[in-house]
Amino acid sequence: MTEPLRIAIAGLGTVGSGTLRLLAEQAELLSLRAGRPLRVTAVSARSRGADRGVDISGFAWHDDAVEMARSADCHAVLELIGGSDGAAKAVCEAAMEAGRHVVTANKAMLAIHGTVLARKAEECGVTLAYEGAVAGGIPVIRALREGLAGNRLSRVQGILNGTCNYILTSMRETGRDFADVLAEAQSLGYAEADPTFDIDGVDAAHKLALLSAVAFGAEVDFAGVYTEGIRNITSMDIQYAEELGYRIKLLGIAEMNHDGIHQRVHPAMVPSDAPIAAVEGVFNGIVTEGDFVGTTVLEGRGAGAGPTASAVVGDLVDIACGRHAPTFGVPASALRAIPSLPMDRHVGPYYVRLMVIDRPGVFADIAATLRDAEISFESVLQRSRAPGDVVPVVLTTHETSEVAMQRALADIENIQAVREAPHMIRIERG
Ligand SMILES: NC(=O)c1ccc[n+]([C@@H]2O[C@H](COP(=O)([O-])OP(=O)(O)OC[C@H]3O[C@@H](n4cnc5c(N)ncnc54)[C@H](OP(=O)(O)O)[C@@H]3O)[C@@H](O)[C@H]2O)c1
Repeated sequence: MTEPLRIAIAGLGTVGSGTLRLLAEQAELLSLRAGRPLRVTAVSARSRGADRGVDISGFAWHDDAVEMARSADCHAVLELIGGSDGAAKAVCEAAMEAGRHVVTANKAMLAIHGTVLARKAEECGVTLAYEGAVAGGIPVIRALREGLAGNRLSRVQGILNGTCNYILTSMRETGRDFADVLAEAQSLGYAEADPTFDIDGVDAAHKLALLSAVAFGAEVDFAGVYTEGIRNITSMDIQYAEELGYRIKLLGIAEMNHDGIHQRVHPAMVPSDAPIAAVEGVFNGIVTEGDFVGTTVLEGRGAGAGPTASAVVGDLVDIACGRHAPTFGVPASALRAIPSLPMDRHVGPYYVRLMVIDRPGVFADIAATLRDAEISFESVLQRSRAPGDVVPVVLTTHETSEVAMQRALADIENIQAVREAPHMIRIERG
C-alpha cells in the first residue's frame, strides 16, 4: 500500500478535535481521494487529561508542540492553537525548518506574518496551507487561487464574520438592540466571552488581508485595512435600512485601483436583492469580480468544528496528493508591495440618521451644511412630526467623498438642534 501521509496536530480544541473526528469518520473516503491513507501520529495541547470527545490514546502525546513540530514522525503539521505569535508561530516555523508541510486555520498569525511565513515555506520547500483561516468551510482560497486563476480580479467583497452576521440578522428579525442580541449570541456559543475581535471587525480584517493577498498577488497588509465594527449599529438604523430597500451587513471589501488596494471592513447597507444581502445568520458569503468570469458568489458556514475541519482536511488531501500551490497564489518573491489606500480616498453614497429637535429651520441648516460640503442628497425621510421633540431624520446621499462626508458630519454635529452624533453608514451598490 502507498505510504500514509503522517500528520501531527498541535491544538486539540474546537478545530483540532473536529479535525480528528473528521479524519476518523471519513478515513476510507479520504484514503481514496488522497490516493493514500491520512494517518495522525502525534498530538499536542496544553492539558493532556482534557476530554476531547475523541480518543487520542493511539497517538504520541507531546507536551511541547514546538518540539513535536520539529521531531515527530510526520510529513505535515497542523497548527490549530491560535494567536498571532507565541506557540502558534513557533510551531509553524519549526515544522517548516524540519521540512514538514504546515496546515493552519490561524488568520491572526497569517494576517500579520503571512508574507514572511510564505517566504519561509518556499525556502524550506514545503506547503503552507490555510483554507480554514478565511471563511471556514467555504473553499474560497482554492477558488481564488485555482478556479479563478485565469482572471484579473478587481474586487472581493464578503461577509467574513459569522458572529456579526448572526447579530445583525437577529437584530433585523426581532427588532432587538445590539447588546441584547450579543448577550444571546454569547449564551448560544455564537460569540466569544470576549467578543472584541469579532464585533470590532478585527477578525474580518484579518481574513480580508489574506483574501486581498491571494486576489491581487500582493503582500499581506493587515495594517492597511480600515476597520470599523458593528457596536454602533442600532435597531432603528436596521429598520430604516429596510424601509429604504437595504440590509446592513459587516462587509470586508478589497478593491484594486490603478494606484493601490482599497481594503476596508465596516458596516454597509447593501440592496436587499443583492446576493450578499441573502447571506444570513452565522453564514459567510463572498462575491468576487473577475475580468473574464464576471461575478462569482460563494456562501457557506464560516466557522465551527465541522466546517473548519472540512477546510483543514481539504488542505491535507492536497498535500497527500502532491498538489502544491504557492501560499498566496504566486511565488512569495513575486508578491507585490502594493500600497493600501487610506479610507479618505473612499467615494460612495451614504446613509445618515440625525436626531434633531423638530422645529422650523432645522432642516435648512442641515441642508446648507451639506451644500457647503458639495454633498447632494438622494432622499430625505422624516417619519413623524413632533414639534419641539427630538425626532429622527434620515438622509441618503449621492456619491460623495469620505473626506467631504466626515467634514459635513462634524459640522452637522455642531448645529444646536442636532442632539446626537450623526449615525452614518456607507452604502454599497451590491
Ligand atoms: N473555532 C472556529 O470555529 C474556528 C474557525 C476558523 C478558524 N479557527 C482558528 O483555528 C485555530 C484554533 O481555534 P479553536 O477554536 O480550535 O481554539 P481552541 O478551541 O481555543 O483550541 C486551542 C487549542 O490549542 C491548545 N493550545 C493552547 N496553547 C498551546 C500550546 N502552547 N501548545 C500546544 N497546544 C496549545 C489548547 O490546549 P487545551 O485544550 O489543552 O487548552 C487547545 O486544545 C485558531 O487560530 C482560530 O482562529 C477557529
